[in-house]
Amino acid sequence: MTGKVYFVGAGPGDPDLLTVRAVRVLAEADVVIWADSLISPEVVALCRSDAQVHGSASLTREEIAALMTGAAAEGKTVARLHSGDPSLYGALLEEMRVLDEAGIEYEIVPGVSSLFAAAAALKVELTAPGVSQTVIVTRAPGRTPMPEGEDLRALARHRSTLALFLSAARLREAVAALVEGGYAPDTPAAIVYRASWPDEMVLRGTLSEMPRLAREAGITRQAIVLVGKALDPALKGPQGPTSSLYDPSFSHLFRRGRKDGR
Ligand SMILES: C[S@@+](CC[C@H](N)C(=O)[O-])C[C@H]1O[C@@H](n2cnc3c(N)ncnc32)[C@H](O)[C@@H]1O
Repeated sequence: MTGKVYFVGAGPGDPDLLTVRAVRVLAEADVVIWADSLISPEVVALCRSDAQVHGSASLTREEIAALMTGAAAEGKTVARLHSGDPSLYGALLEEMRVLDEAGIEYEIVPGVSSLFAAAAALKVELTAPGVSQTVIVTRAPGRTPMPEGEDLRALARHRSTLALFLSAARLREAVAALVEGGYAPDTPAAIVYRASWPDEMVLRGTLSEMPRLAREAGITRQAIVLVGKALDPALKGPQGPTSSLYDPSFSHLFRRGRKDGR
């Protein structure tokens, strides 16, 4: 009988942010392949002591594929750990393709993306009512080119909340494109470096200040940049927006709104 591969979201760093299911899969896996450049060794410490553990940073796509298919062919359970959530900026697609071709069963265990760990570090609501109801998750172009229509200038037109992954080393160009596309230079923005790790760093300012703040702090990787009016600290003040959902006059499936609004 062939084994099974679990693609496991390992969260942003802190092992406390693993899901219960991720911990269970880790405790059962015979073989563990982990993204050792972004995942804490504390996460891997939750594996069985006799599990075969491989760091993926030094492996090629073919070597990772051979490890997964070889172990599954022997009937073993494989945990393939991706940082954050496996569906964002990983190598999930090509790894699923290999398993489909080999007829090997797999399952995806979602994880806490670094995007949400960054929002938590900043204590912001990314979708502030009346301010932004849209979050654009994107990156500056690098070796991976941007598909047509996803140029940062085009995305900036929406002036929604925007999260930049994989862009800390190219912030000058990225910010120039965002401003050219429509964000005001004084739009609230922040850089969160290594969200949820012991050396987490949070830098707040305006969009135009982001490249300088990153440079001064020596941040070139493992950072999320968040941009948008939803980051404005004033929104938490007494004049800030409120949701309709908990408005006393708002009726919905679970509560009848009161006419007097009390
Ligand atoms: C290969 S992508 C993986 C993203 C991951 N799948 C996720 O959902 O967070 C790596 C990028 O994610 C971001 N990242 C990963 N971990 C981070 C953390 N703890 N704090 C801030 N950014 C992080 C950085 O932008 C980094 O360049």
